[in-house]
Amino acid sequence: MNYRHEFHAGNFADVLKHAFLVRILLYLARKDKPFRFIDTHAGAGLYDLEGEAASRSGEARDGILRLLEAEDLGAARELIAPYLAAVRAAGAAKLYPGSPLVAQKFLRPDDRALFCETLPEAAEALRRALGRDSRAKILEIDGYQGLRAFTPPPERRGLVLIDPPYERRDEYERVHDALAAALKKWAGGVFLVWLPVKEREIVDAFGRAVTALAPRSLFVEWQVETPAPGRPLARTGLIVLNPPFVLEKEARLILPELTRLLARGPGAEYSVRAFEYPNRTSK
Ligand SMILES: C[S@@+](CC[C@H](N)C(=O)[O-])C[C@H]1O[C@@H](n2cnc3c(N)ncnc32)[C@H](O)[C@@H]1O
Repeated sequence: MNYRHEFHAGNFADVLKHAFLVRILLYLARKDKPFRFIDTHAGAGLYDLEGEAASRSGEARDGILRLLEAEDLGAARELIAPYLAAVRAAGAAKLYPGSPLVAQKFLRPDDRALFCETLPEAAEALRRALGRDSRAKILEIDGYQGLRAFTPPPERRGLVLIDPPYERRDEYERVHDALAAALKKWAGGVFLVWLPVKEREIVDAFGRAVTALAPRSLFVEWQVETPAPGRPLARTGLIVLNPPFVLEKEARLILPELTRLLARGPGAEYSVRAFEYPNRTSK
């Protein structure tokens, strides 16, 4: 297992994930009460887009770099602006902020964040990237274990990002089981799950099982070109459990513009699906 996010940093999947991360954090910050952000697979925090890995893959060129250069973000302009501001603050087109650094920008003085990362070099890089910040705690532990140990958080409101590398065949199962356990203890938490969409049947089964865990959920899929063997990942997904009510509307404004701006070829498309299981109370 040697997943290295620097090959993928700033690609279209990161753009979608981080744009939604920001929308949810901004929503949580609308209330005075503090929130907690838990990032189960935090990564290194800052990625060199001019470094060897990123230059070799070129993925950011079709992702964040193209978006930063776009002249007209259309109906998504105001919704994406805070995310783009966080990216620019991290180092413009040279350095790309991972989820911890993006989130750090939206934490208020009383909000708290917990970052789990098992790879020692990535955890060390994350410590450097976050700098001294009493609001943030970095733990070099398994993210699923961290989620079990630290839910529910004392604030009782907040967001969990689950963003594993999906190198293991059983990763979908682990995500599902971690979510089921976390929701039993923290029914009101917002959970954002990233996933690659490669095998339709696996993703459909996962989507059905996960969206059924909470009373309300949102499943967004986005494809930048028709997937083909030998090509980089072309389709990605996000599942949000207990999403802010406004998020579906925002997704329907953001996705068409991202699809227009970041299409890599024929077959670019998106879907936004909302699910409701009113009888599911998780507790
Ligand atoms: C997709 S990257 C995370 C990217 C990050 N969330 C972002 O958006 O910038 C996945 C990270 O999970 C780490 N990792 C792998 N297995 C893990 C586990 N069981 N618990 C915590 N971290 C893990 C990897 O070392 C890698 O840094």
